[in-house]
Amino acid sequence: MNEHLQAWRAALLWFDADGRALYEEDGLLVTQREPDGIHRVHAIGDYQALKSQFQQLKPTHWPDRLIAPGFVDMHIHYPQLDVIGSPAEGLLPWLTQYTFVQEAKFSDPVHANDVAEFFLDELLRHGVTTALAFSTSHTPSVHALFTAAQNRNLRLITGKVLQDQHSPDGVRDQTEQSLRDTESLINRWHGVDRLGYAITPRFVPTCSEAQLRGAGEIASTHPSTWIQSHVAENLDEIKWVHQLYPKARSYLSVYDDFGLLRERAVYAHCIYFDEADRRLMHERKASAAVSPTSNMFLGSGFFDYAQAQETKMLHGLASDVGGGTSFSPFHTMLEAYKVGREGQSKTGLSLSPENLWWQHTAGAAEALGLQGKIGNLEVGCEADFVVLNPKATPLLARRTSQASNLSELLFALIVLGDDRVVEHTVIQGDITAPRSLESH
Ligand code: GUN
Ligand code: FE
Repeated sequence: MNEHLQAWRAALLWFDADGRALYEEDGLLVTQREPDGIHRVHAIGDYQALKSQFQQLKPTHWPDRLIAPGFVDMHIHYPQLDVIGSPAEGLLPWLTQYTFVQEAKFSDPVHANDVAEFFLDELLRHGVTTALAFSTSHTPSVHALFTAAQNRNLRLITGKVLQDQHSPDGVRDQTEQSLRDTESLINRWHGVDRLGYAITPRFVPTCSEAQLRGAGEIASTHPSTWIQSHVAENLDEIKWVHQLYPKARSYLSVYDDFGLLRERAVYAHCIYFDEADRRLMHERKASAAVSPTSNMFLGSGFFDYAQAQETKMLHGLASDVGGGTSFSPFHTMLEAYKVGREGQSKTGLSLSPENLWWQHTAGAAEALGLQGKIGNLEVGCEADFVVLNPKATPLLARRTSQASNLSELLFALIVLGDDRVVEHTVIQGDITAPRSLESH
């Protein structure tokens, strides 16, 4: 039998092409290391139906456990590890009082390496196998995260923050140099192993017109790179953008005018949008990184799920640590549910547990342009997955044992779950957590 095959037996959760949840109570997942060195799903389905086909394989058996796709975090700041839980009077004071202070430390490669390793340990401990992450404006911060991710064989996307104005000494960069650095980082890292580069203008207020224009030009010369930024998060931020660009139709349209809306452009928050903004996002195939724990913590506002669905704006879930308060996809999914329910400032709706889960796995992958590659366990997807214990705590055990269908099981996990549920995180056939727990 092919020595590149591995098999895993447990309950299985994955998604079809329309985002519907698929489930096998006693399933078999077979992965294969392919000639390009990447482990992908070779077969998935009912254990009894598949076992004769893979008789020679000895599956790793995880009774009473659930294998699910690794979570995908669409927006997170690795240098904000030490910013989590810093209270402020909203976004702009939070940036100046805490965030820029911490980010200034990343000119030091030793500090950057140290935080990058801790950050990846933390992602894996929580079952997050791919992130689209901000670094800082310092190139060593980018090298540090790419190197650490490469050593762990992760699929990860990051980029150097562009911020050449309205930023203090220590994080402010220089226009021409920042664009040259972006080009060289793309050449060094984009498409190397499982790594990808994201052109990263921080947000409109901290980028000069020349820097935004330059970023847009680089984005069109390198169409397979990602773009990541922030938009329409906070009312004071929006006022500021309006002062800077009084003639712009909206905050979002400033990015569009500089060529920064396209496929693989990911905008965090997207709260204060009108219909034209959402339609523009859809037309350009750009996507929204919904960041509910951050939006609640900073008091920013509520993402409008009903309108996002109506206009078919691509969207998925993100932690936005350190504005966000948790690495845990379970916490993020629960806050997303509450944000969906909020019905005073917009239409309230109940997102199904399957949809919440999809937004943090296959849906997030689709919003990143990585559908069929990550965030799912369909045949051909890259083999990054989590092994969950639905009985990880006494209350979870009590609650999940009463679940009579998949929805109830997933909802109990979303509401009561956290890192204790994540028993293993498997990256490319390699069980990485809880090994990572022992290193601390
Ligand atoms: N807008 C500009 N920078 C940031 C940041 O670091 N976090 C959040 N939440 N919003 C931003
Ligand atoms: Fe952010």
